Amino acid sequence: MKILVTGGCGYIGSHTCVELLNENYEVVIIDNLSNSKEDVVNRIEQITNKKVKFYEGNVQDETLLKRIFEENKIDGVIHFAGYKAVGESVKKPLMYYENNLESTITLLRIMNDFDCKNIVFSSSATVYGVQESPKYVETMTRKETSSPYGTTKSMIEKIMEDLYYSDPTWTISLLRYFNPVGAHSSGLIGENPNGIPNNLMPYILKVAIGELPELTIFGNDYETPDGTCIRDYIHVVDLAKGHLCAITHALDNKGKLHTYNLGSGHGVSVKEIVDTFERVNNLKLNYKFGARREGDLPEFFADPSLALEELGWKTEQSIEDMCRDAYNFIIKETEK
Ligand code: WQD
Repeated sequence: MKILVTGGCGYIGSHTCVELLNENYEVVIIDNLSNSKEDVVNRIEQITNKKVKFYEGNVQDETLLKRIFEENKIDGVIHFAGYKAVGESVKKPLMYYENNLESTITLLRIMNDFDCKNIVFSSSATVYGVQESPKYVETMTRKETSSPYGTTKSMIEKIMEDLYYSDPTWTISLLRYFNPVGAHSSGLIGENPNGIPNNLMPYILKVAIGELPELTIFGNDYETPDGTCIRDYIHVVDLAKGHLCAITHALDNKGKLHTYNLGSGHGVSVKEIVDTFERVNNLKLNYKFGARREGDLPEFFADPSLALEELGWKTEQSIEDMCRDAYNFIIKETEK
């Protein structure tokens, strides 16, 4: 079976390619390298000792997409490609709506033309918005998101739902991620965004290697046990395995629309992450408590029971594993 992975050189995409190859899927990647490097292809091949077919370019490029589908019999698509910086999306909404929506609509149209109607979409817990309960379940109605980035995820879920209802021969799996962190144990692939990171773990890593002077914990006056926000952190390898389970399940159960939470089901606070990171890596992090960050919710985490029930998937790696693997990756990156 051959899977097209859009954005396959990215953080979650590259880890998913590794798990697909380990399960003897053939992998084709399209990536415009706007937020990744072509060397990731070599590292995926190094980890798996398998070959990957790589096409550099934009998913909006119809001519390129048609060439990919003409040159490869694609059995399914996992769609990661898209802009994903929450803060940037607030400053540049048109760029986010145009890129994320246009690329998805073009992809779906070309897939339909080639009678390839099996897609797994990289969605996000952000589509839940503010719910009554912090434990998110798939039957909850999507609410107002906190950024144009989040709204593109909601819109794409809606586009795919409407496509399914117009043609139920499609098989569509919407995967809602919680907070992905960590890296492959080899230390060859991981997350190392350019510039000042928005997300917690990449920021911690830059402080740990001395690239940034100090972490600010945004708020310690929330109604939580230690006053800091609670999130559902998931090891990126567990997340990648969730995609493998989803595409495998989809190939065996055609003509369905599924939505799954991919999270651990456990909430962990920012302070607990910092303390765990220091303990497992035997270091002291420079940090202070600062003001709350606008838009942050005090607490949310997944109800992951549907993915376990239907996909047989659940997280296996601990917060300790996430902190250890993340640091191992950044140390190897900076040693180069
Ligand atoms: C986690 C916690 C911060 C940085 C975001 C996106 C969401 C999804 C996952 C893609 C919060 C605190 C952070 C820092 C801090 N991405 N923090 N100091 O906001 O839960 O979700 O990433 O789908 O769409 O919104 O993740 O890592 O930014 O923050 O104290 O320097 O860490 O306040 O409580 P978040 P995050």
